[in-house]
Amino acid sequence: MSKEVRRAAEILGRGGLVAFPTETVYGLGADASSEKAMARLYRVKGRPADHPVIVHFASSDEAFKWASEVSEEAKLLAERFWPGPLTLILKRSDRAKDFVTGGQPSVGVRVPSHPIARELLNEFGKPIAAPSANRFGRVSPTTAAHVREDLGADVDLVLEGGPSEVGIESTIVDLSGGVAVLLRPGKISKDDLQKIISLGKSDASPRHSGGMEKHYAPRTPARLVPTHELDKEISKLKARAAVLAFSRPDERVDFWLRMPRDPAAYAQKLYAALRELDGANCDSILIEAPPAESGWEAVLDRLRKATA
Ligand code: TXA
Ligand code: MG
Repeated sequence: MSKEVRRAAEILGRGGLVAFPTETVYGLGADASSEKAMARLYRVKGRPADHPVIVHFASSDEAFKWASEVSEEAKLLAERFWPGPLTLILKRSDRAKDFVTGGQPSVGVRVPSHPIARELLNEFGKPIAAPSANRFGRVSPTTAAHVREDLGADVDLVLEGGPSEVGIESTIVDLSGGVAVLLRPGKISKDDLQKIISLGKSDASPRHSGGMEKHYAPRTPARLVPTHELDKEISKLKARAAVLAFSRPDERVDFWLRMPRDPAAYAQKLYAALRELDGANCDSILIEAPPAESGWEAVLDRLRKATA
């Protein structure tokens, strides 16, 4: 057990805020059972009080205590994917208070796999509520430096865990209604889920900020451009522009970032790339659309939101 993690657990116990690495993105953690700590978390995050946050647990047994009903589907998914980048929305038990669920009758629960997150959960001994450690509406952090850039002195401690391995937020499956609904795609894909459960469509989708248009957004206006139109769009550029693409840099463009053709490798680099493009002082960002092939759904979802 590292000294830093022990310190982090102490801070959480006093109602403080600790940013910590997970396999997906860095989280901004607070004691999920403390109304005061949660109020501070919402304030720092800049998140409206009626938006729920995900609660992190050391084990599925602990996670399921926060649910009033654990279906066979929930058990199967937990068995297959926990610890890992999956969040389940379940009907809440009375342990999940309004100040965590945003007043909704459900709660989002997840058992992360990152060793430092697990160490922290074990040391703290209680569930940790953690949204991504960025301010509301900004790109999620995938390094400790990103967290410091965004939150500065508003966070009591940032645990260093290197760059996040997955790079985009967890897959969210809503199991609180009659049918299982995929709310947010992630590394665990629709196909992965459908090998285990069947997914339906819900008409009454619950409030979730990740579901809002224009989330995960860079400050510079960004556009998604199909590969076959990239050259034409570049030739039309007048002001300083930045491009995120698969191909080699084009001399006409001021700032060019090249991305891998593998979706997992792309996802891992995505948020750092968006931050870099945003920091390049350009008037616009062009993003080459990924191929319309299976495996790219989660990346495409984030790119659509970044360019909405
Ligand atoms: O990978 C992740 O999930 C990261 C790491 C830190 O675990 N966390 C994360 O949290 O992305 P956040 O709060 O930035 O996004 C969580 C999404 C939000 O869209 C939130 O509204 C939704 O999950 N959510 C949480 N509880 C929910 C609930 N009971 N019903 C519907 N949506 C919920
Ligand atoms: Mg977020």
